[in-house]
Amino acid sequence: MPDKGKFPHYMLKEIFDQPKGLRDTIEPRVSLDDAVVRLEDEIRIGVDDLRALRRINIVASGTSRHAGMAGQYMIQELLNIPVDVDYASEFEYRNPLIGPGELTIVITQSGETADTTAAQREAKAKGSKTIAISNVIDSTIAREADGVLYTHAGPEISIASTKAFTAQMAVLYLFALYLGQVRGKFSKEQRRAHIKELLSLPEKVEKTLESSTACEEIGKLYYKFEDFLFVGRAIHYPVAMDGALKLKEVSYIHAEGYPTGETKHGPIAMVDEHLPVVAIATCDKNDFGSVLRYEKNVSNIEAYKKQLGQVIAIATEGDSLLPNIVDQVIFVPQAPELLSPILEIIPLQLIAYYITVKKGLDVDKPRNLVKSVTLE
Ligand code: AGP
Repeated sequence: MPDKGKFPHYMLKEIFDQPKGLRDTIEPRVSLDDAVVRLEDEIRIGVDDLRALRRINIVASGTSRHAGMAGQYMIQELLNIPVDVDYASEFEYRNPLIGPGELTIVITQSGETADTTAAQREAKAKGSKTIAISNVIDSTIAREADGVLYTHAGPEISIASTKAFTAQMAVLYLFALYLGQVRGKFSKEQRRAHIKELLSLPEKVEKTLESSTACEEIGKLYYKFEDFLFVGRAIHYPVAMDGALKLKEVSYIHAEGYPTGETKHGPIAMVDEHLPVVAIATCDKNDFGSVLRYEKNVSNIEAYKKQLGQVIAIATEGDSLLPNIVDQVIFVPQAPELLSPILEIIPLQLIAYYITVKKGLDVDKPRNLVKSVTLE
């Protein structure tokens, strides 16, 4: 069992382990000079099969499924390949219409989750190739997959998954780049640009971790609230989902993750001074679509404020508009929109941690939970 070092809890140590976990997951698999991603020895699926892929399924549970949701946006946006994402625990009940010629990506930190193991076996029985993304070498799910892409986040002890989550999203982006490389989707310059952005992530995460004190202050302001709403649009929706899951599983405070635009179809009625909203409202200024989504997010946030809702925003460094609208703002460095979830989740992990510690709860061992759910 690794020790906590200078940290009071494993969860905080693992949040701060994320720059190293990302470096160890990304760097051995890319060459900036050659502008190539090297996954062929791990994926063990032939180039012809990868070129023939028409659809991808992603199956996982909990936080790993949220990584899969982000991966869906990455793969669809970069490769125009349709991706379905399923709860592992629901997969077998929907009689999944998958078969030979399709790929099922199974994401799991522990590699032992019973629901996810069952889903992988169901996909294989239907003739699908499977790739496991796992943080545990030679885990059951890793052993039973055709190919394995390990996250190298290091042992994750705390029940709440943090460093595995960001590493899983980095692996999904690497996979999308590799698939694009195999399918001739990107020029060498485009591949080099993507690789450069991936390699810059650990340093950007280190910069984001500097907001730890501000997140601790937010924890002190909000630890007595009994309900939270987390909102995010597009690829930021999975981040909202995981921010909500982090908070509820360690602090037992009820929290919901919602697509930002969807809140006007009902949930906004709940927003008042008793229901704080955590809004992911970053903006990649180099991406016109991101700017449009940001403008819609600002309008949603103004509606929450009109209803006296307190709003904590996750914004991009340099944003001078949101600090004048919201109650607290945590900035993350500028990044391409498809990689920004890896930065945005950091303050949400920290806020969940500090609220829980302020409540005097056992943040590493929440009640009724286990690190690997080996029963269906
Ligand atoms: C995440 O913080 C939770 N501990 C839980 O949802 C977890 O992600 C889920 O049980 C899946 O575990 P796995 O990644 O090991 O399969």
